Amino acid sequence: MKIWLISALLYGAAFASDFITKNEYAKMLYQNPRGIGCDKCHGSGGEGSVIAKYKEENKKTKVKEEKELVAPRINNLDLETFKKGVLGARSMMPSYFLTDEEINLLYEYVINFNKDKK
Ligand code: HEC
Repeated sequence: MKIWLISALLYGAAFASDFITKNEYAKMLYQNPRGIGCDKCHGSGGEGSVIAKYKEENKKTKVKEEKELVAPRINNLDLETFKKGVLGARSMMPSYFLTDEEINLLYEYVINFNKDKK
């Protein structure tokens, strides 16, 4: 008896998950891509953001200069550049293990926030 109830519940859950839309899935990936969320650095719409400000002494002039650590804007790139950016994270950006399909979804998601595109 119990086993039926459990299967019914599981079936229900699997069924319910069909109701999340592609956009919801993409948003979920963007905010929680099996690692730190892209939004934490690139902003909720991929508009880019300043991660930190710090001061660094200019070796020549000995003057302390304001520096910024910036995550670039990513909602206005072409797909190739976007993919290379995600897969080839070089310095500060963490490496992710996302499938091609997931990267495509992420791309479609952030590109929607590109306000300059008309
Ligand atoms: C810890 C902060 C951080 C997180 C989290 C992060 N990024 Fe980045 N990202 C950066 C920085 C900084 C760069 C600039 C290049 C570098 O330092 O690697 C960058 C570069 C990129 C680029 C290349 C931009 C270009 O103009 O070539 C893309 C695309 C990108 N990130 C997408 C993503 C996506 C998608 C996610 C989530 C799966 C993500 N990033 C998570 C900080 C971050």
